[in-house]
Amino acid sequence: MKTAITQQQTATQQFYQDVVKGLTGTPKYLQSKYFYDAAGDALFQQIMRTPEYYLTRCELEILSTQTVAMADALGATPFSLVELGAGDASKSFYLLEELHRRNPEQAYFPIDISENIIAQLQNTLPVKLPGLQVQGLRGEYIDMLETVDYLSARRKVVMFMGGSIGNFTPEEAVKFCRRLREQMKPGDLLLIGFDLRKQPQLILDAYNDRQGITRDFNLNLLTRINRELGADFDINQFHHFPTYDPLTGACKSYLVSNTDQQVQLGEHLIRFKKDEPVFMEISQKYSVEETRQLANAAGFRPVQYFFDGRRWFTDVLWELSQSHNAL
Ligand code: AVJ
Repeated sequence: MKTAITQQQTATQQFYQDVVKGLTGTPKYLQSKYFYDAAGDALFQQIMRTPEYYLTRCELEILSTQTVAMADALGATPFSLVELGAGDASKSFYLLEELHRRNPEQAYFPIDISENIIAQLQNTLPVKLPGLQVQGLRGEYIDMLETVDYLSARRKVVMFMGGSIGNFTPEEAVKFCRRLREQMKPGDLLLIGFDLRKQPQLILDAYNDRQGITRDFNLNLLTRINRELGADFDINQFHHFPTYDPLTGACKSYLVSNTDQQVQLGEHLIRFKKDEPVFMEISQKYSVEETRQLANAAGFRPVQYFFDGRRWFTDVLWELSQSHNAL
């Protein structure tokens, strides 16, 4: 077992390597998984409360109004509920509550990169739902999914909610879902959330809120790089540029350099041209047909769709498809 200090050092080294790789290549990019430091967590909470960011409200509607149908779909045999990127679990709480009503000893394994989030869930959930067996796991999704198998022999229901799959390109999403599948056995289920294609302006607005919180969320990664990696970004010299391409369904955000400038990052001097973009994040939007193709390509079979009233978002239940057992 690594000590907390070496774990932190390794994490910081990985962060540094990833940032160097992203900023020394062409085109420049940063990985959106690094958005979520304490300030980033708080900004994302604020994004979820903006009038433009419909995703959270859609999924909350699904989970709060179709809780019983969802719990029924998961089956009667006891299982471990594993949630990837649990956050504050405010949406999954509806489902947890229903599952706990059916089985007071329901096991719940929230997986998150934030130690903070995990500690909070472990402290609060067993008080709200007495008997619920909560075991938080901090780390990479796939590694921690493997860990769950050592901790429990029950079948698994894996949740990947919120539309987080959108943070992968369609090609990466196939690879990621295949890796998930490799960690699953026949009888296991995946409940996965997709933000669906809709009027393009509604999508763009969700990533360009009037209060500028999404802008701050993006710029916060530069602040984090300054603090944790000792860089000297002037965040006033970059601006947030959100885009949505209705042909591909790719919603991408960039930070664009306002001027010719250079930034010191460890031993690297990074040059930015005026108007040069740094690719920050993709939030891919899917048609229902495209979610079906993803399931198929990754060795899953959709068994049940849950939609909000406007069909802006869907949580889909996938089982392993027979034909891909040899994948
Ligand atoms: C948490 C990945 C679902 O892509 O919609 C929100 C993150 N980025 N606003 C998304 C995010 C900008 C969000 N996910």
